[in-house]
Amino acid sequence: MRFSFSTAGESHGPAEVTLVHGVPAGLPLTVEDVDRDLARRQKGYGRGGRQKIERDGIEFIGGVRHGRTLGAPVSMLIRNQDYANWEARMTPDPVEEGKDGKHNQPVTLPRPGHADLAGMQKYAFDDLRNVLERSSARETTARVAAGGVAKRLLSEFGIEIHSAVYRIGGAATEKQTAVAGAATADESDVRCPDPEAAEKMKAEIDAARRDRDALGGEFVVVARGCPPGLGSYVDWRDKLDAKLAAAVMSINAMKGVEFGDGFDVARHRSSEVQDEIVPSENGEGVAGLTRTSNRLGGLEGGMTNGEPVVVCVAMKPISTIAKALQTVDLSTGEPSRAFRERADSCAVPAAAVIGEAMVAVVLAETFLEKFGADNLTDLRSSYESYMRRLQGTVGGVRSAAPSGSSGSSGFGPS
Ligand SMILES: Cc1cc2nc3c(=O)[nH]c(=O)nc-3n(C[C@H](O)[C@H](O)[C@H](O)COP(=O)(O)O)c2cc1C
Repeated sequence: MRFSFSTAGESHGPAEVTLVHGVPAGLPLTVEDVDRDLARRQKGYGRGGRQKIERDGIEFIGGVRHGRTLGAPVSMLIRNQDYANWEARMTPDPVEEGKDGKHNQPVTLPRPGHADLAGMQKYAFDDLRNVLERSSARETTARVAAGGVAKRLLSEFGIEIHSAVYRIGGAATEKQTAVAGAATADESDVRCPDPEAAEKMKAEIDAARRDRDALGGEFVVVARGCPPGLGSYVDWRDKLDAKLAAAVMSINAMKGVEFGDGFDVARHRSSEVQDEIVPSENGEGVAGLTRTSNRLGGLEGGMTNGEPVVVCVAMKPISTIAKALQTVDLSTGEPSRAFRERADSCAVPAAAVIGEAMVAVVLAETFLEKFGADNLTDLRSSYESYMRRLQGTVGGVRSAAPSGSSGSSGFGPS
């Protein structure tokens, strides 16, 4: 089965659940491999009260035995500690009319910027709790768990995924600084590797909080060590850039995605934005070739090209703010103020960790499509055979050309 995952669970329900399909047998996998990222997702300057209540950690329910995967679906449970306070409101059992009335009053003040209003209309609900419990970003804990499995698989093949924040509100550093420093971004509590910019970001968050407001920002996810040829140009469904874009855009509150220099390339001439191909002089690159730059973010023709994959994502400001926004009470039709539950004032550092998970899942899926095998031993053979074919040739395509050959590709303009 294709590598993929599903999640289930409500924000204040008993637990979040992840079911990961298509994990090859024999992969070493421990609770710590996954919990590490769950803890990283909970951190970040600007998070709200919920993170003080929850201590996220997984329990394996299936698919892992004695520290290795079985080739069966990997199922993980993350308990919601806060459920104890929500049982009356969230119980799956039928509730008697009028019983525990205080807790079961329908919520009828839809919040702008959330799924509330359209969700009630679509599913014929008169209580927006039925919408907000599932549309909440609490669901992304389950995604980060799936990402932990994907990352563990990719790490067997030297693929490492990191992220960093380069903008919160008006405070920013260069995107390149974030790309270069992504591996150490966890040292900063806004996950920005430029200490000066990080201080400005924290000051912006403090100011927004004082004004009872909230902020968004931009982050980058960098995947290093991808072999060339993940994804494909032959069918639109297989294009890796399209899959990555869909995956990161599915994260709550993401409003834009770009690869490498992104939209900026549209403002330049071609000679200023392409990543030229040159012989590699000191072993970098793949198959004796390297690039003069990585402006296109490691993706050409819907495939990895051997350079780091660089995915940049823009997050909108948190919608639920203390300065409550206008809405209409759906039980009366009267103008009112939006419903408010505990909220973050900035979640960009956490969103970057979720971005890593989604990028990891897509890369694992395409990696297994290319090298497909139901167990780690065969997967490694297939990967090594491909890498052997690429090495020792010119660009992985021909046996080394005699020196002094013209080097003509034989391709005309298209
Ligand atoms: C890590 C993370 C934490 C979030 N925390 C909040 C929050 O505390 N309050 C809020 O209103 N929105 C929060 N959001 C954003 C909402 O979940 C999101 O805006 C909402 O589900 C509507 O989806 P959309 O913005 O993609 O249209 C968070 C998003 C992420 C990724």
